[in-house]
Amino acid sequence: MGTSHNGSSQMGKSTTGQKYSNPGVVNYVAETARIGKNVKIWHFAYVGSDSEIGDNVMIGSLAHIDYKVKIGDNTRIEGSVYIPPLTIIGKNVFIGPAATFTNDPYPMSPKMTGVIVEDGAIIGSRAVLKAGVRVGKDSVVAMAAVVTKDVPPGVVVMGHPARPKYSRKEYDLKKAQWEKTDPR
Ligand SMILES: CC(C)(COP(=O)(O)OP(=O)(O)OC[C@H]1O[C@@H](n2cnc3c(N)ncnc32)[C@H](O)[C@@H]1OP(=O)(O)O)[C@@H](O)C(=O)NCCC(=O)NCCS
Repeated sequence: MGTSHNGSSQMGKSTTGQKYSNPGVVNYVAETARIGKNVKIWHFAYVGSDSEIGDNVMIGSLAHIDYKVKIGDNTRIEGSVYIPPLTIIGKNVFIGPAATFTNDPYPMSPKMTGVIVEDGAIIGSRAVLKAGVRVGKDSVVAMAAVVTKDVPPGVVVMGHPARPKYSRKEYDLKKAQWEKTDPR
């Protein structure tokens, strides 16, 4: 039995104004999962047993968060992210759409080891992280990177295998510059 967040049935309106309903739109949250305050879990997401989700976390549609996962406060997990058992994710982390974490380097093995993501890190869309790696505080993993080794704190890594390219400080400068320019 699971509990549902954000409603088990949705009503909406099409662009032509026609009303429609989506009966049975649900997510699944295990009864033994511990969910913090102000958590948003969108449709068709899954949260497994004994997982701990901090306050103000957002979990996007189709995200799969398996058992014994820990997610810190204010972390944002976009749609279609896969997070297997034993993964530990810190506070204020961003995980882009369809990022994939792994926990079994030689499947199928009964021995599993989770990825650790430290506070403030950013994981780009479709990045893949090898079982047991640690992504350091405030680091950035580029979209589509394949992370095979620990990422030190405060760096931006890219590529296959992911290698440091520049610092988080430089990333923040680029971001600030980008935010000043007019949108396309
Ligand atoms: C990592 C990232 C921040 C780099 O941005 P950037 O510094 O503006 O990148 P640039 O386009 O200036 O490219 C800088 C260099 O990095 C390379 N590069 C950029 N992104 C890369 C990536 N994902 N993988 C491999 N190389 C990449 C470029 O080819 C370029 O290489 P060069 O110096 O040899 O020419 C950005 O590519 C990224 O991955 N952002 C995350 C996006 C995301 O997942 N958002 C999720 C919400 S939708």
